[in-house]
This record gives sequence, structure tokens and C-alpha cells, in this order.
Amino acid sequence: MSKEIKRAVLITGGSSGIGLALANVFARNGHNLILVARDGDKLDQAAEELQKTYAISCEWIAFDLSRHGMADELFQPDQRARDHRRYSCQ
Ligand SMILES: NC(=O)c1ccc[n+]([C@@H]2O[C@H](COP(=O)([O-])OP(=O)(O)OC[C@H]3O[C@@H](n4cnc5c(N)ncnc54)[C@H](OP(=O)(O)O)[C@@H]3O)[C@@H](O)[C@H]2O)c1
Repeated sequence: MSKEIKRAVLITGGSSGIGLALANVFARNGHNLILVARDGDKLDQAAEELQKTYAISCEWIAFDLSRHGMADELFQPDQRARDHRRYSCQ
């Protein structure tokens, strides 16, 4: 039996405001999520709430995207794991 691979939607600024509203829309439609913002506590709270409300998994990455080159770095898995906190909330 083949295992279905669901793509995750990455949402920058996903811990509050417009980003969190978008996260809710995607989660409601069954998408797994990766939220990005600076404050890990806010991210953790948002991810917990999304997972409690919808049957999805939500990871988050505490990342300051205002720093030069960080947007590119976000997509480098090795770099991300080495230099930044990455939490799975599943
Ligand atoms: N609300 C409106 O009606 C409206 C209208 C037009 C345009 N906008 C624009 O849309 C954007 C979002 O608005 P919002 O009302 O949703 O704002 P918000 O509630 O302040 O949300 C901003 C999100 O971005 C994250 N964030 C901020 N700086 C960041 C950084 N350097 N690196 C990574 N994440 C960062 C915040 O988390 P952390 O602080 O933890 O990083 C938070 O998750 C803003 O640029 C705003 O000017 C808003």
C-alpha cells in the first residue's frame, strides 16, 4: 500500500494576524503547516491550537526573516537544523 505524502504549507508570520488567519484556512482544508515567526512561545501556542482544532500536523520554526539572507536560509534543511530551533508539534 502506498503511503500518501501530504505537502506542508509554509506560512511566514503565521503566529498572529493575517498569517494565523491563513493558517486556519489551510488547516481547515486539511493541509499540514510549517509556521515561521520570531517568537517561539507564540508559535508553539498557535501550533498547539491549530492541531487541537484540526486534524493536521503543525511544525514551527523560530526565525527572524528581517536579517539579510535569512529567507534563503529557511529553505536549507541542514542549515536550519544546525543553526536554528526547529520544533515538531505533532
Ligand atoms: N492587519 C491589516 O489590516 C493589514 C493591512 C494591510 C497590510 N498589512 C501588513 O500585513 C503584514 C501582517 O499584518 P498583521 O496585521 O497580520 O501583523 P501581525 O499580527 O503583527 O503579524 C505579524 C506576523 O509576522 C511575524 N513577524 C514579524 N516580524 C518578523 C520577522 N522579522 N521575522 C519573522 N516573522 C516576523 C510575527 O511574529 P513575531 O513577532 O513573533 O516574529 C507575526 O506572526 C504586515 O506587514 C502589515 O503591515 C496588514
